[in-house]
Amino acid sequence: MTSQTLATFTLHDGGGVPLVLLHGFPLDHRMWAACAAFLPPGTRAIGVDLPGAGHSDLDGFQPSIDHTADWVHRTMVEAGEGNAVVVGHSMGGYVALALAERHPGFVAGLGLVSTKSTADTEEARAKRLRIAAAVEASQTVDAVLSMPAALVGATTTERRRHLFPVLDLWIRAQSPAGVAWAQRAMAARPDRTAVLERFDAPVSVVVGAEDTITPLAEAEHMVKAAGTSARLSAGDGSLTLVPGVGHMSVVEDPQAVAAALGLLHGHVVAHR
Ligand code: MLT
Repeated sequence: MTSQTLATFTLHDGGGVPLVLLHGFPLDHRMWAACAAFLPPGTRAIGVDLPGAGHSDLDGFQPSIDHTADWVHRTMVEAGEGNAVVVGHSMGGYVALALAERHPGFVAGLGLVSTKSTADTEEARAKRLRIAAAVEASQTVDAVLSMPAALVGATTTERRRHLFPVLDLWIRAQSPAGVAWAQRAMAARPDRTAVLERFDAPVSVVVGAEDTITPLAEAEHMVKAAGTSARLSAGDGSLTLVPGVGHMSVVEDPQAVAAALGLLHGHVVAHR
């Protein structure tokens, strides 16, 4: 089955410019639910299932982060949303950066959570293509079931064990075709650091202090590229380092991530 738009979910009610929340891999919009609950009252948050994830179909296009960004844009425009604060976690951040490049008028602010603007190394690209082939061959998502151990930080491994079965449930719910598509799309994405150099709306970068997948150095690289766009207000907001969490910052400490996103959204609304 093909569909013209992606599945969207209202995760927090409110009016005005929405926060569009784009999930990481191999997950769907549900990873944002707890974080959205901590957003300031009146902040409208819309979760999107990216192609092949959760309730969104694949439509036969070649795997591509660019195409995914166009698809998110089309979905929002058809829903009557002229612009939004776009927030992406990890893979969702790659899509958010592609949106900022391809549809800059739509992106009123950019939240980059546990993500990076750099491209894959050849080694990382080859690993993604191997995983894509493995899930297709087995017609299961077994090849990505071990990911949670690497996704969360040491503190979560020790003190938030309850998150492991939740992540496992979310990953098992994904389709092998969707997992393969996303791996190939990520493998093909370019370095988008220059997009941040050109982007002139507010940028907020969030990273977990225990993230080994997209570590602090990647976050600092993005803040530096964004320059003055990343200064939300005098001296704060551009880079939020969340202590005690790894790559799944949004799930490991949803309140801390929501506080950073609330600041970004409030800044965008105040300066319109
Ligand atoms: C994610 O969390 O979306 C993935 O770790 C991103 C990636 O594989 O680059």
